[in-house]
Amino acid sequence: MNTMKLILHRESRIEPGTDGKSMVDFMEDRFGNDTIAGVEVGVYSGAHARYMLNKLNLSKLYLVDPYVKYDEYRDGPSEFLDIAKLEAHRRLAPYTNIEWIYEMSDVASNIVPCDMNFVYLDANHDYHYTSRDISMWYPHVIVGGIFGGHDYTYSIGTNNNRSGWPSVKQAVDEFLDKYNYTELHVTNAHNPDWYVIKK
Ligand SMILES: C[S@@+](CC[C@H](N)C(=O)[O-])C[C@H]1O[C@@H](n2cnc3c(N)ncnc32)[C@H](O)[C@@H]1O
Repeated sequence: MNTMKLILHRESRIEPGTDGKSMVDFMEDRFGNDTIAGVEVGVYSGAHARYMLNKLNLSKLYLVDPYVKYDEYRDGPSEFLDIAKLEAHRRLAPYTNIEWIYEMSDVASNIVPCDMNFVYLDANHDYHYTSRDISMWYPHVIVGGIFGGHDYTYSIGTNNNRSGWPSVKQAVDEFLDKYNYTELHVTNAHNPDWYVIKK
């Protein structure tokens, strides 16, 4: 087992000067005006996708979401997928550098090329899905790119399990062990981003 160095953004006691770095903010600093390409897996109403599109110089942003309710998807937002899809289309309509893939994550991973500067995972947060997403999408990121996602949380929340995802943490921790990562970036937020710089 490795000793993990947690780089907690917004917590100056760990790494001064890096306050407030979500994965997108971190990439904005790291890539600057460089043209990059990436993927968001799990788009919902497109709020985070729009944030990425506004902050980063993207040649292409692949947007993966089937917008279908299925038995193993128990996240809260699944009730409102039709509305979310409409909202995402409305929000993201101005952007010409997006490519929608209305497929499940595993199918989409066979469509998206393996030369991405980043992958952001925010789809089904159950352990098996998260673990599989990590395995399938990690090879899509080039060395030096950023691989991460949303909801690295320690405990189950009080709102029908909607605000806490220890399942994500478990899957991420196993991934870190498997690939011998000793540094994990985590946003110190209610629903933190987690990410590594691919080595
Ligand atoms: C938490 S929401 C995404 C929120 C979005 N990233 C944001 O921050 O604005 C999760 C989304 O994942 C999608 N999803 C669920 N299972 C999926 C799967 N197996 N593959 C791809 N997307 C999936 C759902 O349809 C839903 O829209």
